[in-house]
Amino acid sequence: MATPTTFPVHRTQIAGIPISHLAETFGTPTYFYDSEKIAERVNDLKKFDVIRFAQKANSNIAILDFVRRQGVLVDAVSVGEIHRAVSAGYQLNGTPSPIVYTADIFDRDALDFLRKNPVHCNAGSPEMITQLGEIRPNAEITLRINPGFGHGHSQKTNTGGDSSKHGIWHEQLPECINRAAAAKVKISGLHMHIGSGTDFEHLSMVCASMKSTALSIGPSITTISAGGGLPTPYRESDKMIDIDRYFEIWDATRKELETAFHHPICLEIEPGRYLSAESGYLLSEIRAVKKMGDKLYYLVDAGFNNLARPIMYGSYHPISISHRAANDSNVTPTVEAIVGGPLCESGDIFTQEEGGFVCSRELPAAKVGDFLIIECAGAYGFVMSSNYNSKPFAAEVLLHEQTPYPIRERQTNEDLIRGEKIPSF
Ligand SMILES: Cc1ncc(COP(=O)(O)O)c(C=O)c1O
Repeated sequence: MATPTTFPVHRTQIAGIPISHLAETFGTPTYFYDSEKIAERVNDLKKFDVIRFAQKANSNIAILDFVRRQGVLVDAVSVGEIHRAVSAGYQLNGTPSPIVYTADIFDRDALDFLRKNPVHCNAGSPEMITQLGEIRPNAEITLRINPGFGHGHSQKTNTGGDSSKHGIWHEQLPECINRAAAAKVKISGLHMHIGSGTDFEHLSMVCASMKSTALSIGPSITTISAGGGLPTPYRESDKMIDIDRYFEIWDATRKELETAFHHPICLEIEPGRYLSAESGYLLSEIRAVKKMGDKLYYLVDAGFNNLARPIMYGSYHPISISHRAANDSNVTPTVEAIVGGPLCESGDIFTQEEGGFVCSRELPAAKVGDFLIIECAGAYGFVMSSNYNSKPFAAEVLLHEQTPYPIRERQTNEDLIRGEKIPSF
């Protein structure tokens, strides 16, 4: 059932722990993740045979370890992500594959690694079939198909259609079948991910395409993956997706294939955002409250070096305020404020729309020293961090059963120059 979401603009605690305590202990900017929310989202998806976390959304090894303990498998888009998964306790292979490598190319690093390590591969380009056959004869492979259309919450997260580089173009399927036969590679699965923020209208088209593609390949198919793309609420007007309906549509497709092939088909789902977005809070401190003409700015100590979604996609994140002084009331008047960061870049604004249009937000009146929390920041948050302006990466903390566990130290200025060298001319 779709349930309404509420995002308070005042907050005194995160996952039951006072913000003043968190800020004092860990400093700002810091990412906090509420493990209970992740577990709740995993639980929503339990009807699928395999939940495979698209770790690109949040690849801290503590998060991977946590989802692994919940029975979730993992997707990796690079050797670095495989390394993370293994460090978090995932085995390299097994049935179903604990780790799947999904990419549009094998870079040299990946080929080298996969030659020696039997991680299952999900190919996004026809060449990968031939290349896998060369390093691993008799391998099984999954094909990521681009069905010719896509959908996303922004043009940059649309991963289908001819303006996307992702996946194998649906019309190239006969070529792929020939390549697989020549390379002695068995096509054992199909995968479709047409973008983030999928809706039901597109879903029935994806399922129809999945069915016809699987039937063209035949009974070697034992797995189908629904990909990721499940939306999560970022605004109060956003509703939770109806997971039961989503599952039923995929389950019907799976059953049709089981009838056609006379064997079980494993149904996977591969969410990133859905599992981790709502768990994440980026805690920052307001360091300036200033007026520019008629406009009021809250400038905080987190910037797009910490959370790039607003500058990249014009993404909206809920924002709340936590007053530092204990006697500051939680019913302070609201003001229209623009929230910006510390970077020497005019796009360093958290309240902006796609295209870079700066907008203001109705927020509680706040002072320097108060805390500002950017919410729903657990997916595509920390993982997109940069050291722009030589700002160290933020710390990360997992909140589990009312206890904060540090899961990443804040970078130091020494970390920033590690690996750099001044040549001796
Ligand atoms: C292949 C694949 N699977 C899963 C995902 C996860 O998408 P989301 O975070 O929207 O669930 C992505 C995102 O880009 C993807 O490319």
